[in-house]
Amino acid sequence: MAREQWGVCAEANLHGLHLFFNAHDGYEPVIREALTQLPKIFEEINEQFSEAMFSAVIAIGASFWDDLYPDKKPEGLKPFSAIKHDDRYMPGESIDLFVQLRSDRQDVNYIACQRLVSLFGEMIELIEQVPCFRYLDGRDLTGFVDGTENPKGRNRRDVALVKHGTFASGSYLHVQRYRHNLARWDKVPTEEQELIIGRTKIDDIEMSKEDMPDTSHVKHASLKDENGNSLELMRQSMPYGNASTQGLLFISYCAQPTNFERILHNMVFGSGDGNYDHMLDYTTAETGSAFFAPSIDFLKNQGNVG
Ligand code: HEM
Repeated sequence: MAREQWGVCAEANLHGLHLFFNAHDGYEPVIREALTQLPKIFEEINEQFSEAMFSAVIAIGASFWDDLYPDKKPEGLKPFSAIKHDDRYMPGESIDLFVQLRSDRQDVNYIACQRLVSLFGEMIELIEQVPCFRYLDGRDLTGFVDGTENPKGRNRRDVALVKHGTFASGSYLHVQRYRHNLARWDKVPTEEQELIIGRTKIDDIEMSKEDMPDTSHVKHASLKDENGNSLELMRQSMPYGNASTQGLLFISYCAQPTNFERILHNMVFGSGDGNYDHMLDYTTAETGSAFFAPSIDFLKNQGNVG
């Protein structure tokens, strides 16, 4: 069985460093080769700083995949399509490479970042970096615990990883940077905030069916497929913030891309009659991109192909 990249199902850490790169044209063979070496570099960092619980993921953007590995593509990998309904807009963009570096030590993430940058050198260009942190006891900056209904134990791998074929143990990944309007949110009384999210704030308890408003986030995110199975996601979102901007870097992994797509669509469109996800009145997606995080074995074996 192929091994998945460590950060896909990892437990939460104190610090995250997220990097978005584009590749310069013509470097595909060298990038492919560099990607074969990256898992070993991350393994070394993990061994050297074992107490830091370091984990990493490198994922390849939907459009860049065709240039990098032209012979085979994960079936469901496609660019993030922007969606809009009324004043709710989710932008979509094409980014070549996404890197998630996580650990309980900011200096270890920094070291991993430097190793990565020196491996790829001038082949790639940094588009954006989003340093993130654990906030209180795993809360989003709205004050609500984020990640409670994430799959647990073995179920994490079942939800996140492709089961069979060339891309087994790989994962479809969606990333959106949301910017919160906290000045507006903080004026909303706690009871109303709880109705908007669908859980209690301090104790993090899900509202009963009777109390759960049709406009809550939890209601829109708890979808079932045609056979009654829950559409689950392995969320690895983390808060970011400084003196001027605050928000959530939403990150989800899944064995198929459709779970994310369907939930996001439901949040934006809802069932009509104003029943969209009212959390979106307080936060705005500023970026959105789609990637595939192949297994470690896939990355290591692709060096001289093509
Ligand atoms: C600013 C953006 C977002 C914030 C602040 C946020 C926050 C939350 C919070 C507080 C919960 C309840 C606790 C939990 O189970 O984690 C939750 C649940 C959830 N969210 Fe989000 N979320 C955001 C965006 C999204 C997006 C874009 C998706 C998927 C497209 C999503 C999918 C889910 C799912 C699947 C659940 C679990 C629902 C359940 O089964 O109860 N969230 N989110």
